Amino acid sequence: MKILIVVGTRPNITKIALLYKSMAKEFGCLLVHTGQHYDKNMSDDFFNELELPEPRYNIGIGSGSHAEQIGKMLIALEPVLVQEKPDLVLIPGDTNSSLAGALIANKLRIPIAHIEAGVRCRDMSQPEEWNRLIIDRISDLNFCPTRTAQDNLKGEAITSYFAGDIMLDNFLHYKPKNTQKDTHIFVTIHRQENVDAPDRLNEIIKALNIISLKHQIIFPIHPRTVKQLRGKSTVKPKFKTCEPLGYTDTLKAISGASLVITDSGGLQKEAYFAGVPCITVSKYTAWPETLVNGANCLAYKRTDIYCRARARRKHFEPDLSLFGSGKAVSRIIYQLKVWQDCR
Ligand code: UD1
Repeated sequence: MKILIVVGTRPNITKIALLYKSMAKEFGCLLVHTGQHYDKNMSDDFFNELELPEPRYNIGIGSGSHAEQIGKMLIALEPVLVQEKPDLVLIPGDTNSSLAGALIANKLRIPIAHIEAGVRCRDMSQPEEWNRLIIDRISDLNFCPTRTAQDNLKGEAITSYFAGDIMLDNFLHYKPKNTQKDTHIFVTIHRQENVDAPDRLNEIIKALNIISLKHQIIFPIHPRTVKQLRGKSTVKPKFKTCEPLGYTDTLKAISGASLVITDSGGLQKEAYFAGVPCITVSKYTAWPETLVNGANCLAYKRTDIYCRARARRKHFEPDLSLFGSGKAVSRIIYQLKVWQDCR
C-alpha cells in the first residue's frame, strides 16, 4: 500500500516523526511538503533533528492570505497526487496545508486518513476549527487523539477510531532524561487571533512584562509574532526573547519550567504530559482533558494572565491514558492494515 503524507508546518513535521518511521517499515510512504513553513528553524531543522527523510516533493507555497495559500497548494498538489497515485493520503493536524491535502485527495477520489480527528475548540473565528470540521467530514479514516474527540465525531455522525495522541508517543520517546525543575517560565504566543491585532498582542506582552519582574522567561518567538512586534504593536517585551527552538530543546524547556504560558494547542498538551502547569492564553481550548484539577487554565485578559501565573499550581502527575498512553502509532498502523486487508 502506498501512503502519501502531506506536511507543511512545524507542528505537523514533528508530530509525524515516529508515525512516519514505523509506517515506512510496513507500507510504501512518501512525504510531500507544502512549504507553508520554510525558514530553516521552522522546517529543515526538524527533518534533520528527527532524522526524517527529505520530502519527495516540496511544492514551496510559502506565506500568503488563506485563499492564496490554500489555492496555490491545491493547484500544486494535484499533479503530484495524479502522478504518484497513492492508495491513501494521510493528513496530520488542522493547518491550511492539512486542509489543502485533504481537499485535493477528496477531489481526486483518493481515500484520506486524518490524524488528530475530532478535535474541537468551538471557536468558529479560528481558521483551524473550520479546517478540522471539513477534513473530518471528507476523511475515510478518522483517528481520534482522545475520547472527547471521538465523542465530538459521534455527535457529528462521523465514524472514527480512538487511537490516542501521536504527540504523546513522540513526547515519551524524545523527552529529556534529567531536567532541572522550576527554573523558568516557558512562553510561546503565535496564534493569529492573539498576534495580528496590535491591541491584543499589547495586552499579552504587558502581562508578560509584569511576570518577568519576578521570573525568568524563556520566549522563543514565532516569525508571525516577530513581524507584529517589529510592526504595529506598541508594547515591546522588557525581557530577552530567542529564536524558535528545536523539538528536543522545546521538550527540555517545557519539562524544566515552573509554568508554561502558551496559545499553542500542542504545547498545552506537552506541558500536561510533562506534569507542568499551564496557562492557555485564549477563551477556548481544544484539549479539555488538560483542564482537570487546574493543570491547565484559560486566561484571556492581562490581569487574568498574571493573576493565574501568581496562583499557579505545583507540578502534578498527568493521566496519560487520556491521550492513549503512548500507543497511538501502533494503533494507527494496526487499523491501516485492517483497512488495507478489507479493501
Ligand atoms: C500555522 C497554522 C497554525 C499552527 C502554526 C504553527 C494555519 C491556518 N495556521 O500558523 O494552526 O499553529 O502554523 O506554527 O495553517 N513565517 C515566516 N517563516 C516561516 C513561516 C511563517 O516568516 O517559515 C511568517 C510569515 O510572515 C507568515 C506568518 O509567519 O505570513 C504566518 O505563517 P502561516 O504559515 O501563515 O501561519 P502560522 O501562524 O505559522
